[in-house]
Amino acid sequence: MSSILHGTDYYPEQWLDQLHVLDDDLRLMLEAGITAITVGVFAWSHLEPQEGCYRLDWLDRVITRAGEQGIMTILATPSGARPAWMARRYPEVLRTLSDGRRARFGGRHNHCPSSGVYREKVAAINEQLSARFGGRPEVILWHISNEYQGTCFCDGCAHAFRSWLRIQHRDDLDLLNHRWWSSFWSHRYSDWEEIEPPMSHGEDELHGQVIDWKRFASHQITDFARHEVAAIRRYDADTPSTVNLMGLHSSINAAELVESVERVSGDIYPAWGLPPGTDDGMLHTIPGNGDLFRNYAFILAYYRGLSGGKPWLLMESTPGTTNWHPVGRLKRPGAHVLSSVAAVAGGADSVQYFQWRQGRGGWEQFHGSVIDHEGRAGRTHSDVTDVSRMLGQLDDLVGVSCVADAAVVLDTPSRWMINQASGPRNDGRRGEVETAMRHFDSLTRRGLLVDVVPVEANFERYSIVVLPMVAELSKETASRLLRFVDAGGTLVVTYFTGVFDRWMCLVEGGTPAWLNTAMDVSVTELDQLAAGEAVPIHWIPVGDARRESSLPSFALEYCGIIQTGGAAEKIAVYGGEFYCGSAAITRTRVGSGSVWYQACRLDDAGLDRLTAEVVRASTRSTGGRVLPARWRRLVMSLDPRLRWIARNGENATYLFLFNPGDSPCDVNGIPEETGEPGSDQGGRIIAAHRGEALGTTRVRLDSWGSVVLQVSRSMD
Ligand code: GAL
Ligand code: ZN
Repeated sequence: MSSILHGTDYYPEQWLDQLHVLDDDLRLMLEAGITAITVGVFAWSHLEPQEGCYRLDWLDRVITRAGEQGIMTILATPSGARPAWMARRYPEVLRTLSDGRRARFGGRHNHCPSSGVYREKVAAINEQLSARFGGRPEVILWHISNEYQGTCFCDGCAHAFRSWLRIQHRDDLDLLNHRWWSSFWSHRYSDWEEIEPPMSHGEDELHGQVIDWKRFASHQITDFARHEVAAIRRYDADTPSTVNLMGLHSSINAAELVESVERVSGDIYPAWGLPPGTDDGMLHTIPGNGDLFRNYAFILAYYRGLSGGKPWLLMESTPGTTNWHPVGRLKRPGAHVLSSVAAVAGGADSVQYFQWRQGRGGWEQFHGSVIDHEGRAGRTHSDVTDVSRMLGQLDDLVGVSCVADAAVVLDTPSRWMINQASGPRNDGRRGEVETAMRHFDSLTRRGLLVDVVPVEANFERYSIVVLPMVAELSKETASRLLRFVDAGGTLVVTYFTGVFDRWMCLVEGGTPAWLNTAMDVSVTELDQLAAGEAVPIHWIPVGDARRESSLPSFALEYCGIIQTGGAAEKIAVYGGEFYCGSAAITRTRVGSGSVWYQACRLDDAGLDRLTAEVVRASTRSTGGRVLPARWRRLVMSLDPRLRWIARNGENATYLFLFNPGDSPCDVNGIPEETGEPGSDQGGRIIAAHRGEALGTTRVRLDSWGSVVLQVSRSMD
């Protein structure tokens, strides 16, 4: 790929009775600058209308005709939904629900991953597709199934669960009982056959069992994905494959699933313009200040983190509205370009849509699409054309691995555990994702580019790593983190990190697990504050004005009470409650780096202050790895309505500026080119939509405007 791909999901099987549609569609795609179609996602009943009777000619025609126009194909395997004949003849392909009822035919994304028949049928259709289309020059990527998710509770899955458990627990039931703490409530098992999946009317309180089930369910879907890819590989060894991820969705551990394919891709549906407190369309809530862009940038950074910095693909986004947001608000002029260009800024090498043409019927008839159900090209088609124009300026980015300054860890098993736990608070404010987002945002506002990563990440790529409520921390992860610190890295650890072992039992040897000794910090108790309560935080002054207070800061919701040894320097203490005067934030030097412990949840002022101190004290290359110093100062002084993301290309670094709001906003103080060797780098606009230069150092962004500046590389 030498340009950013601009593609769309396409469902020609819904229009097979109207032959002109394909020609009309391809013509309008060319006009809009569409370079790829994703086909076959839900086409099984057209590909195999009767058992063993394959009909691939129509698909061949689509791929060929698109290819003749220079439009490439991303070819999907159809396992996301199956034909009715299959469900009728082989009901075991259907999923069994958590209450034990087997689902009837209908819907999608609901097969049993353990069903031998389903695996056989999927392998057969995948082989057909691969034998016919694998290696064709038009087919550039295999799209495996669609948005794998969820789990099945059938007897076959229960059986597979028990076999998996035997491997995990060395075929030793005593070991399993010990790890699961099953003497609690007399849940001790005396035979492997007694163990069931956590059905909704069965076991849900034995955490070890529930967490093992979640791990198993994730493993089983990943195994299913591998099975699909293996069938493709029988005829096509080379074309890469991908699975489209679902952002924050946590039924599967994305870090595990992506290991089954060559490329990371994901879908995102931000609900632009909806009010604070609303569902953001990305499995989170729009924050109180309405800053949906924060959540969006976080998911982009999560996909980038999951692909280890390699460019990922934005496999689905809506060109208009959706049929499932709380309110189907139309995108305001500029919002579509902003959303799409921001994805590229966040590491995507593609912008792709669900969907090209609105279907006349079915569940998604009110979903936005590039053209409507009558084939009319309106405002959305012209927005999409504008995206093409912007993408055309960004070839320098394609295929180049993204560099970042810092990483915030968001790990799926920890999320499972925090949500599985009963307590220590039950008021909807556990907030592990929100905590990660706030750290992400606070670091971003210090001018750092931040990845969101699973615990498997290579921490050496960053200068600062934050562990926000990473409840399960293994010894192995902790040793990698300590090696990173030893070599000069900065680690920030928060309350509720390192609490559980792999089976969600409380750790032995002190909290935060495996880090406490090196940090010389040990958590003794964890106080919980109710909504609206706060404890003042007093920062300890050090000599100069370095820690001079700006805004007062407070602890909210979680207040860890800690014991510290001599190696842990107190940075801030509690200013209230019975733990008044005890440490709330510490720093410990370890080797050439340091570990900070944040024992309490901080309000925005407190978190920003902590972040500022952490960044200032961080020794390793922070302050210019992604953005040169002058540019960092620029993004730190942006009008708070504006947002930025940076991405490095082959020949330059690019600063993307966005105005995700309804009123215009200026950027002042853009560094100028001086042309002198060793001087700070200047920049120039290389692409803009609803944005323009006002002189050499100023840029105006209209409502929903986007501007891309090229930052020339240092000449020294
Ligand atoms: C995605 C799904 C697509 C389509 C889209 C609608 O989650 O993969 O098939 O349903 O949502 O927004
Ligand atoms: Zn099953």
